Amino acid sequence: MKSQEFFKKFLIYNASGVMCTTKEELGKVLSSSADAVVFKTATLQPREGNPEPRLFWTDEFSINSMGLPNKGIDYYCFIAPELKHFKKPLFSSIAGFSEAEYFELIEKVNKVKEFDGVEVNLSCPNVEASCVFAYDLELSLKVAEKLRKMTDKPLGFKLPPYTERWQIKKLADGFLKIGVDFVVLCNSWPLGCVVDYKKESLVIRPNQGIGGLGGKFFKNIVLGQVRLFYQVFKGRVKIVGVGGVSSGRDVYEYALVGANAVQIGSRLLHEGVAVFEKIKKELEEILREKGISSIDEKVGKVKEV
Ligand code: DHB
Repeated sequence: MKSQEFFKKFLIYNASGVMCTTKEELGKVLSSSADAVVFKTATLQPREGNPEPRLFWTDEFSINSMGLPNKGIDYYCFIAPELKHFKKPLFSSIAGFSEAEYFELIEKVNKVKEFDGVEVNLSCPNVEASCVFAYDLELSLKVAEKLRKMTDKPLGFKLPPYTERWQIKKLADGFLKIGVDFVVLCNSWPLGCVVDYKKESLVIRPNQGIGGLGGKFFKNIVLGQVRLFYQVFKGRVKIVGVGGVSSGRDVYEYALVGANAVQIGSRLLHEGVAVFEKIKKELEEILREKGISSIDEKVGKVKEV
């Protein structure tokens, strides 16, 4: 499968949603030390998203209820060729409001040869009145099977965090059978709430002040998800870890439990694109101290105690 070509070597890049909505932002990520870029999740039509304030972050965490603000799939298909000169992988990200919309979106992505892969977002937490798609496991597998038949591009699914082992097993077995190339673990924790005790108020306006939580605390939640998926995939479906990555050490931990790549979300929001260089330097230092030539040697090699 084609994605195996990308993820043969460990990649560090942005999480969809952070610095990737406009051509200018995508260009900034691509000009940095990031190894690839994933675009903002695109819908069929452009969207303004939810009312502001809809994003809040500190050093420790972020909460968002963006509501999929994006310029629409046609814009992203149009600008992809203009970003190819950076010679880095370009991942499209798509989200439909129905099964049919996912199919329509992938047909548009298929027509753009400059997209090297597609991350299907089955886990947006913030669109009111619709639930997180990938909590319906049967429906998700049905859509994944059809999408697999519709595209030869490397195909991955961005999932929400699960709370039961059987949910992960069922999806992982299904994805393996379908021939999915990669999964992105995980989207933010969907039902977070942050309160400012001084002002005695919520910090975001949409959806009763409830939104997706990410940041440092999330790392240990996602490490568990990566480990459980890896135990089924055993390298046959690649894993992109996303959640609380802010240092070289975090990347190392993700690799040990089975990630072939990591994306940076909250920390990119906080530090800007310089974060990629910082994290890579820290990772190199760890590798040097341990006398290891490449992080790839460590994927899935965590020891049991
Ligand atoms: C949004 C939030 C997400 O966590 C995501 O994966 C996609 C979209 C949003 O609200 O825009």
